[in-house]
Amino acid sequence: MNQSRIGLAHLPTPLESADRLSAAWGGPTIWVKRDDLTGFGLSGNKIRKLEFHLAAAFDAGADTVITCGAVQSNHSRATALAAARVGLHAILYLRSPNGEPPEAPTGNHLLQRLAGAECRFITPAEYDDRDRIMTEAAAAHGNAWVIPEGASDPLGALGFVAAMHEIAPQLEDSGIVHPIIWHAASSAGTTAGMLRGADELGLDVDIVGSSVGDPAGEVEYRVRTLLTEAIARFGGSPCDVPWRVVDEYIGRGYGLSTPEELAVQAEATRLTGLLFDPAYTGKAIYGLKREIEQDRFTREDHVVFWHTGGGFAVFAYPELVESRK
Ligand SMILES: Cc1ncc(COP(=O)(O)O)c(C=O)c1O
Repeated sequence: MNQSRIGLAHLPTPLESADRLSAAWGGPTIWVKRDDLTGFGLSGNKIRKLEFHLAAAFDAGADTVITCGAVQSNHSRATALAAARVGLHAILYLRSPNGEPPEAPTGNHLLQRLAGAECRFITPAEYDDRDRIMTEAAAAHGNAWVIPEGASDPLGALGFVAAMHEIAPQLEDSGIVHPIIWHAASSAGTTAGMLRGADELGLDVDIVGSSVGDPAGEVEYRVRTLLTEAIARFGGSPCDVPWRVVDEYIGRGYGLSTPEELAVQAEATRLTGLLFDPAYTGKAIYGLKREIEQDRFTREDHVVFWHTGGGFAVFAYPELVESRK
């Protein structure tokens, strides 16, 4: 890969067997790829993408990065912290219900501020126009690099192309044949990168994105668009790896949880010692359990649950503990 990259993440992240979870849920053997350990305050999957975007910002001579997300966005928090690490200023366009700052900074937003990011609040309607808003802000600034939502463009997806190169020898060392790679999917850069990486390596894997809020068709469209754009930008051929997006487990929608979801997430924590945030990995682990209950896997299957991080959101859900009753 010739693209510039800054080493920010602590890699390789471990691939671990979740023995107690596999035994309790009684289905396939479950493994966990620990991207909750990439560093930068539980930055998860985002830091892999930012290694490429921040390098590109430097290559372009920028002194500032501009990105966007919800007030509690993991991506915006990861960008703020990574920018602080390398000495770039970060401007964040944050979507809040009324375009106003929250009364008190909590969770990811507290960390965005702590890292010194400049937070600009916009309404959901303005957020629909985020790309134009960021492009105009960059033009006004004169020396800024724009990172799209979730760093999900062909450049950011390279982080997950590299991640597949990382996991390939780990799968082999662990004797894992034909794994199903199960992960939380939203802006689709993670899924698209995995697909390109797996295709590049000829890996025998099945990739399943568990949508955290949008209909499967929309997320699949994003994946396909990214794959097409990646070919246009970096070359390669259409991807041959089996994949799909499921949306049966989005429940009440993005960032909203049901008591059943929270109970499964809490159970998964008790069986692994890992944190599953209700917005992303929590929805994905809930979906995995439901698939097991519906006999969608055999006992011989190996499922790699790609833990994409995002642990701070756990602190916003006291109901997780109440769900133990
Ligand atoms: C913790 C976590 N997991 C998964 C995702 C989904 O990744 P992508 O947006 O690349 O589909 C995100 C995106 O915000 C995230 O924060």
